[in-house]
Amino acid sequence: MSAGETRQPMTARAGAALAGTAEIPGDKSVSHRALILGALAVGETRISGLLEGEDVLRTAEAMRAFGAEVTRDGPGRWRVHGVGVGGFAEPDRVIDCGNSGTGVRLVMGAMATSPIAATFTGDASLVGRPMARVTDPLALFGAEAVGRAGGRLPMTVVGAREPVPVRYTLPVPSAQVKSAVLLAGLNAPGRTVVTEAEATRDHTERMLAGFGAEVAVEDGAEGRVITLTGQPELSAQTLAVPRDPSSAAFPVCAALIAEGSEVRVPGIGLNPTRAGLYETLREMGADLAFEDRRDEGGEPVADLVARFSPGLRGVEVPPERAAAMIDEYPVLAAVAACAEGATVMRGVGELRVKESDRIAAMAEGLRACGVPVEEGEDWWIVHGRGAGGVAGGATVASRLDHRIAMSFLVLGLAAQAPVTVDDAAPIATSFPDFLPLMRGLGAGIAAEPVAA
Ligand code: S3P
Repeated sequence: MSAGETRQPMTARAGAALAGTAEIPGDKSVSHRALILGALAVGETRISGLLEGEDVLRTAEAMRAFGAEVTRDGPGRWRVHGVGVGGFAEPDRVIDCGNSGTGVRLVMGAMATSPIAATFTGDASLVGRPMARVTDPLALFGAEAVGRAGGRLPMTVVGAREPVPVRYTLPVPSAQVKSAVLLAGLNAPGRTVVTEAEATRDHTERMLAGFGAEVAVEDGAEGRVITLTGQPELSAQTLAVPRDPSSAAFPVCAALIAEGSEVRVPGIGLNPTRAGLYETLREMGADLAFEDRRDEGGEPVADLVARFSPGLRGVEVPPERAAAMIDEYPVLAAVAACAEGATVMRGVGELRVKESDRIAAMAEGLRACGVPVEEGEDWWIVHGRGAGGVAGGATVASRLDHRIAMSFLVLGLAAQAPVTVDDAAPIATSFPDFLPLMRGLGAGIAAEPVAA
């Protein structure tokens, strides 16, 4: 079943303390990149801990369509036999990326400097999302894209026959755009240079270097400048995917707001370009401990222990932290609803073009749960009700957005009356075992029977 085909309502109710250890699945961002770079390397890349969510499975399928051999050996254990940089074949079918903005944008980048054409599509959420932010820089390499009005999917990209390297400054803080440009730069001769004013997640740069590409990263007056030397030979790697800090955020935040809880989440990726939520939670007064900080597979990780934190206070989140926690604002808003005072989030216009308009989706659901929210184009303020102060008792729309669904289920664990999400099916895109994992910790979350 893919997200959106069958509605799966789910309800969360307060009452139980969460306790135990949460084994979080692999990082979604790293998983996409491992498959794509594995497909562009020479030889066989072995991946462990791959996230087997729908988004990543779509990227695996896409890599097969471009000619790579992709094999599943066991849970999270995959092999990719790559075709080498410039070796992509033209797909004989439409590439359906499902719900995944990362999948479609990175794959477009990876094929845009090969002399092949590919047609991309996605689900009702993805076909509404902007693609010009990627196809504009890909045009500088010589690629052409024809899609629907406003640069929407379905869209056909014709790769450049004679690609030229590009110098590009990101107009929006987006790791997807940065990564699409770098992946396109792989098959252009000479140096491709990307500048970003704000540091976004750097998994692509790290992994490119790991596969043997020449990548230099410098901090300059205009921000981070990444220089990639094109047409390297990438050599196959053995990769361990760290556990996803964005998925860990849900049980961690649930533990902070559900009375009496204590949850341990081992081996969470804490790349500084991803860890902004945890800093913000600490500023709010969260009882969070980071134990055994270490490096795994080129990424910093630690074991997190989160305990019920009745004295949470609203904070002003620094706008310069937005990129390092862009996917965590929805669940932060659930925590903010249970804090005393206002949580102010500015400089977050990108939230409006995610799997859903996340400011609108959260504001609507929070208001229905008795939490006042103010919003503007690129800011929002959640007025917290304090511990035990959120009324709940509403059914909220998840809008084909996994993180909206999980955020309201977390909120329901601390609300006075149950919170129902109209459709929890999208959770399978990033966190297929969310329900058994949360129930294993004792959370009162249950799928509602669906009328036949
Ligand atoms: C991602 C980048 C972010 C993030 C998404 C994953 C990535 O999107 O929201 O979930 O893996 O590069 P943007 O690059 O559009 O900010």
